[in-house]
Amino acid sequence: MKTIIEPFRIKSVEPIRLTSRPERERLAREAGYNLFGLHSDDVLIDLLTDSGTGAMSSLQWAAVMQGDESYAGSPSFFRFEAAVQNLMPFKHIIPTHQGRAAEAILFSIFGGKGRRIPSNTHFDTTRGNIEASGATGDDLVIAEGKDPQSLHPFKGNMDLARLEAYLAEHHAEVPLVMITITNNAGGGQPVSLANIRAVADLAHRHGKPFVIDGCRFAENAWFIKTREEGQAERSIPEIVRDCFAVADGMTMSAKKDAFGNIGGWLALNDDDLAEEARGHLIRTEGFPTYGGLAGRDLDALAQGLVEIVDEDYLRYRIRTHQYIVERLDAMGVPVVKPAGGHAVFIDARAWLSHIPPLEYPGQALAVALYELAGVRSCEIGTAMFGRQPDGSEKPAAMDLVRLAFPRRTYTQSHADYIVEAFEELAATKDALRGYRIVKEPKLMRHFTCRFEKL
Ligand code: F0G
Repeated sequence: MKTIIEPFRIKSVEPIRLTSRPERERLAREAGYNLFGLHSDDVLIDLLTDSGTGAMSSLQWAAVMQGDESYAGSPSFFRFEAAVQNLMPFKHIIPTHQGRAAEAILFSIFGGKGRRIPSNTHFDTTRGNIEASGATGDDLVIAEGKDPQSLHPFKGNMDLARLEAYLAEHHAEVPLVMITITNNAGGGQPVSLANIRAVADLAHRHGKPFVIDGCRFAENAWFIKTREEGQAERSIPEIVRDCFAVADGMTMSAKKDAFGNIGGWLALNDDDLAEEARGHLIRTEGFPTYGGLAGRDLDALAQGLVEIVDEDYLRYRIRTHQYIVERLDAMGVPVVKPAGGHAVFIDARAWLSHIPPLEYPGQALAVALYELAGVRSCEIGTAMFGRQPDGSEKPAAMDLVRLAFPRRTYTQSHADYIVEAFEELAATKDALRGYRIVKEPKLMRHFTCRFEKL
């Protein structure tokens, strides 16, 4: 059979409130054309993020009922710890309420003024935690990773030559080497096992620990299995173990590839570092056997980690985005290729070339998609990155729109509906106009700023 079906049945449903186009135009206007300002029940298909928005399985909900809320030594923690260690063989597993809390603890130890932390591409919150500590984050992804049209199979790979030169030049300032799998900021593009091993080897030869941001580890492992030579016959858990076996630690947002609505962890091998990390944890998150989580959350994650490495699930998961990318590409919509592991990225600057970057073509596309079809996406471009520390404004490197897919939440007909929305947009896009920002906060303006249509 050719069709890759959703490998699940639906047992509990959540109605989508259908809205009319005039209603959505009013709601968008009232939200200052900022899609973060919408009430989510005014959204038909919510692709703002894949984080914490996936569907839990019947076994995860059953696991919730097993949750033990003891302050210390809860069996929920030991089930969670065993599930993590089954895939990621680290000695110390330290639960946190989400990924950024693990990052905050990591960089309270490894950050600090004058330090520099290389990665393929740091995610925003990782960079935020690095910079808040006074350190600098540097992105050393391969050149193909920045070319939307390059068909390189592992566009998330670290540029090994640049990393080697970087470690020689900044040896004293670098406390650790990181890598993000998959590379979210670069379009959900994977990193090969060979690249992970080579980065670990380089880091270790320079005497530096190697830490993986593993949020989408299972999606990354699926790409390794299907694209990397010699990996096709290996199981996903085997590949995952190989990825983490060469690392000294990891940070994790369990809101992604652990099927959690909330959760995260920091893992470390070194006893002294783990003790220091647990000190921070107790001060900011909670006792080491619950972090910032309820026991029931830990049990849901333990079951989620069993389900996320299922090949039928991963095949369907990755195929959904490939399907949409193929259809949009055939229609002439410029998309980042190949499709990423959790999202589809549209090059709005190229598609709406009549709207200059400082009039936010990504925002224009995201708002138009909402007004037309009720689909909520996210601008990743000049509205997000354009404001400079000195107060000036300049175009971001790219003006992209991200459609991020919650796990196990939408179906094939939702995918077809999204494609159809782009067909309609293609016919009318030349009439779309840009925006100006009429009100913005000092920092991270894209979350709360207000726009006006030009
Ligand atoms: N690292 C990566 C690669 C991420 O994508 C995220 C979150 C985090 C760390 C932080 O984890 O949200 O649990 O604190 N990404 C979400 C997104 C928010 O929409 O891409 P968190």
